[in-house]
Amino acid sequence: MSNPKEVAGRKAAEYVRNGMVVGLGTGSTVYFTLLGLAERMQTEGLRIRGVPTSVDTETKARAMGIPLTSLAEVEAIDVTIDGADEIDGALRMIKGGGGALLREKVVASISRREVIVVGADKVVGVLGRMFPLPVEIVPFAKPVVERAISKLGATATLRVTASGSEYRTDNGNVILDCHFSHGIKDPELLESKLAILPGVVESGLFVNLAHVLVIGHADGRVEVREKS
Ligand code: A5P
Repeated sequence: MSNPKEVAGRKAAEYVRNGMVVGLGTGSTVYFTLLGLAERMQTEGLRIRGVPTSVDTETKARAMGIPLTSLAEVEAIDVTIDGADEIDGALRMIKGGGGALLREKVVASISRREVIVVGADKVVGVLGRMFPLPVEIVPFAKPVVERAISKLGATATLRVTASGSEYRTDNGNVILDCHFSHGIKDPELLESKLAILPGVVESGLFVNLAHVLVIGHADGRVEVREKS
């Protein structure tokens, strides 16, 4: 048996070419991409500059010796490799389970190629049936946004840490995890409705951002789907 996350994460490291600026996503699948990139730097002399999407990834990349750059220094990113919490047949996603959705979406927005790495269990028919949609909001606006989200048909739960304190993102905001009991019927419409709510910083709905999906399977197989 193989670890599907490792299968997908390591495969995606092969998409990186010498001299590229690489968006470094966040999560336990991308961790294996970071390992793969660090290994290629050692064995092949691969030279890259990474743009991390979270403090966690920045820490891991630094520990592995991956050189980093920032959005102030690059206007575009050649390829970004990131994970997802759910992804559908049109490569629309729910992201933000790890709290990094805002930086991930900013980095995706300037990426020429967005490669998503997942284990096969993350591929779904309808988004949001199983995984709640994370929405990053400014703390002040919480009651207002909660009521607005309720009118959109979801129940919002404030994310807390394992010790029970309020979870804070790398940007100092809080997250509402939004449960849609029947799933998200129209992700594009919901994303646009959330985007105009005052107090919402960003939602974890990613539409029209992914170009390639790399799926790892427990039997060691890797499946690659390109956006049509
Ligand atoms: C981070 O906020 C998320 O968007 C991650 O990309 C996602 O949670 C990754 O999941 P894995 O840890 O399962 O790769």
